[in-house]
Amino acid sequence: MKHLLSIEQLTPGEIETILRRTAEFKTNRGKISTRPLAGQTWALIFSKPSTRTRVSFEVGIRELGGESIYMNAADAQLGRGELIKDTARVLARMIHGAIIRTYAQRDIEEFAEFSGVPTVNALTDDEHPCQILGDIFTVMEKRGQIDNRIVTFVGDGISNTARSWLFAAGKLDFELRIASPKRYQPKPKLLKRAGGRVVCTEDLQSAARDADVLYTDIWVSMGKEAEEARREAELGPYWINESVVKLAKPDALVMHCLPAHRGQEIDEKTFEAHAQSIFDQAENRLHVQKAILAELAR
Ligand code: CP
Ligand code: NVA
Repeated sequence: MKHLLSIEQLTPGEIETILRRTAEFKTNRGKISTRPLAGQTWALIFSKPSTRTRVSFEVGIRELGGESIYMNAADAQLGRGELIKDTARVLARMIHGAIIRTYAQRDIEEFAEFSGVPTVNALTDDEHPCQILGDIFTVMEKRGQIDNRIVTFVGDGISNTARSWLFAAGKLDFELRIASPKRYQPKPKLLKRAGGRVVCTEDLQSAARDADVLYTDIWVSMGKEAEEARREAELGPYWINESVVKLAKPDALVMHCLPAHRGQEIDEKTFEAHAQSIFDQAENRLHVQKAILAELAR
């Protein structure tokens, strides 16, 4: 594995390796340390805000023996129009890897191509692979396996997180249900591209029935602020609340990639009832990203 740009580009074997190493890193944290990034400096280049991704990568790099530098893309010459391909070729002379959060998927692909250094997608408009790998690990950790589980995604079914779940469904053996208004459902072409057992429906109740996992994300993703009013109106019925949870399996996991907007995609009571596992899910970002970094540094 040279880069981690999307779930779509990973093989099932690569996913399996990352998940196995995630378990090792989680178990060994604070006991056995390995330093595959010793002597290396990785750049975090972010065009959008972040709490979890930034901190988990910075801590993870440090724990693996490396150093990191954080660049707000707007403060770099990138923000004044320097080309990505030029930025990539400059940074490649200085850094050992890049972790990029931006808008267009094409931009990280271009950075990876021109820099040649290991490049990680820390969220684009198309995918949030590190999040969904951590989430799959969380399901396996809490429920033994993801095989033959039913994962129901509630809300914006074409968001980056939903799309990463969609591509994961094409690689692993679980059923993905996407409960969204038509306009927020993946188009047939994308469904075909992803493969897997996927059901898209406007009927939240049927999507939630007997689910093993109820998953949601914010209605207004970063960069979509201009659509806020419309999204709130259209996505209004697509939220996880106590009555939706009652339809799922009795031990269903409620998951949220965070940050959460209580009263929108999830209600306060449901969020707090499942806070323990939601914050375990957030913690697992650290462990899965250490596994990813260790794989890329090989
Ligand atoms: N879930 C997630 O990626 O959070 P941040 O935006 O805080 O990094
Ligand atoms: N879909 C959200 C995820 C945030 C972690 C966004 O892109 O803002």
